[in-house]
Amino acid sequence: MKDTKIYDLVKKEEKRQKEGIELIPSENYASEHVRKVLSSYFVNKYSEGYPKKRYYGGNENVDSVELIAQERAKKLFKVPFANVQPYSGSPANMAVCLTTCRPGDTLMGQALTAGGHLTHGHNVSATGIFFNSVQYGLKSTGIHEGGDLFDYKEIRKLAREHKPKLIWVGATAYPLKFNYKKFAEIADEVGAFLAADIAHVAGLIAGGVHPSPVPYVHIVTTTTHKTLRGPRGAMILVTEKGLKKDPELGDKINKAVFPGLQGGPHDNQTAAIAIALYEASTPAFKKYSLQVVKNAKTLSSTLKNGGLKLVGGGSENHLILIDLSKTLSPGSGVFVQKALDLVGLTLNKNTVPAEPMSPFYPSGVRLGTPAATTRGMKDKEMKFIGEKMLEVINLLKDYKLPEDKKLRSKYIAKFEAEIGKNKIIKRIGGEVRKVAMRFSIP
Ligand SMILES: Cc1ncc(COP(=O)(O)O)c(C=O)c1O
Repeated sequence: MKDTKIYDLVKKEEKRQKEGIELIPSENYASEHVRKVLSSYFVNKYSEGYPKKRYYGGNENVDSVELIAQERAKKLFKVPFANVQPYSGSPANMAVCLTTCRPGDTLMGQALTAGGHLTHGHNVSATGIFFNSVQYGLKSTGIHEGGDLFDYKEIRKLAREHKPKLIWVGATAYPLKFNYKKFAEIADEVGAFLAADIAHVAGLIAGGVHPSPVPYVHIVTTTTHKTLRGPRGAMILVTEKGLKKDPELGDKINKAVFPGLQGGPHDNQTAAIAIALYEASTPAFKKYSLQVVKNAKTLSSTLKNGGLKLVGGGSENHLILIDLSKTLSPGSGVFVQKALDLVGLTLNKNTVPAEPMSPFYPSGVRLGTPAATTRGMKDKEMKFIGEKMLEVINLLKDYKLPEDKKLRSKYIAKFEAEIGKNKIIKRIGGEVRKVAMRFSIP
C-alpha cells in the first residue's frame, strides 16, 4: 500500500520545481547521484561516534564513507581537519559556540537585520540565549559594487570593548566578497577565535570564484546544500591557524558535535556529502560556479538598469539584495515575494541595511542564481528574469503596508486576491513557465 497523500505532494513539488524558476539564493538542485544516495540503505544505520570509534557494530562501510567524506572536504577546502556529521548549518554553528565559549561568554556576529544568520548570536537563537551576544551591523550609505559594507572601525571598537571569545564572519544575505583578512586582524588583536560561516559561498570558494577564509580564520562552517549543491547537511573545518591556536581544536569540535549536541550521524547524508564534494572538485563545477557569478552580474545589472536600488550596488557573488524601501515603500518585500511567487519566480523577502521595518515585514527581497544556473540558464534567461521582475514590481506601486499592525494581515489578503486576478500577472506566469520548461532539473 502506498501513502498516496504524501506521494501526491512529492509529485506536486516536482512539478512546482520544474515549472517555476528558483531564485532563493540558499537553494539549489542536488544531482541525481546525491539524491539517490540519500535514499540508499545507509538510511537504516546507526553509528554514534566517529570512524573506528563507534558505539554500535556493523559500521565498516559507514566508517569508510565518513573517512572519504572527511578526506574530500580537507582536500577541497585545503584544511587539516573536517567534521562532516552536523545535521545542518544551525547545529554546526552551535557546536562551534560550544567549542569556543562557556555559557555566558561573549561572542560577536553580524546582526540578522544586516544580513547575518540567526545562529551568529541573534537573541531568539540558542547562540544568543546561552551566550552573551554582541552584534555588528553594516554601513548603509555610499556603497558601490567592488566596495565593502563592513565598518571595521566599529567592529574593532566593539571587539576591544566586549572582548569576545568568538567572532563570526559570514552572512546569509550579503552580495559582496568578504575581506576575511580584516576580520582576522580584529580577532587576533583581541585573542578571539574567528569562525567563517561560508554556507552561502562554499561552492563559489570550491570553484575558485570567491576568496577563501582558510588562511585567516581558525574555524570554518558550511552547509552542504546551497552553492555546494549537496544534500541538506553541514561541515565544520579547522584550519592550520586554528590548530596553531589550539592543537586540540579538532578533538574539541568532534566532542561538541557528538556527544555535545547530536546523537547518531545521518549516514545517508554523509554519503551524499561525499558525492557532492567529489562533484565540487571537478572542472565542470568550476565552470558552474563561474557561471553562477556571471549570471548574478547580468541579473543585477538588468534590475539596476530598470531603476531598482541594490544593496552594495550590485553582486560580486551569487546573491542580490534589492532595497525596495524607496522604489516601493518600507515593508514592501512581502508584496514583491507574493506577486513573484504567482508568476513562478521564487525568492524571499529580506531585511535591508538600516531596515525601517522588521524581519517579518522587511523592505527588501533577496535572490540569487545558484539553482537557475544548475539548470543551464545563462545571460539570455537572466535578462528575461530581470525584465519580468521589473514588470511585476511595477504593478505594485500602489500597495503600502498599513502602519497599524492589526490591519496588516487583512490588507495582505486583499492584495493577494487582487493580484491573483491581474491579467498581466497571468500572462507573465505563462511566459515564465515556458522558459522554465526548456531547462530540465536534475
Ligand atoms: C550563513 C548561514 N549559516 C547557517 C545557516 C543555517 O543552516 P540550516 O538552515 O541548514 O540550519 C544558514 C541557512 O540559511 C545560512 O545562510
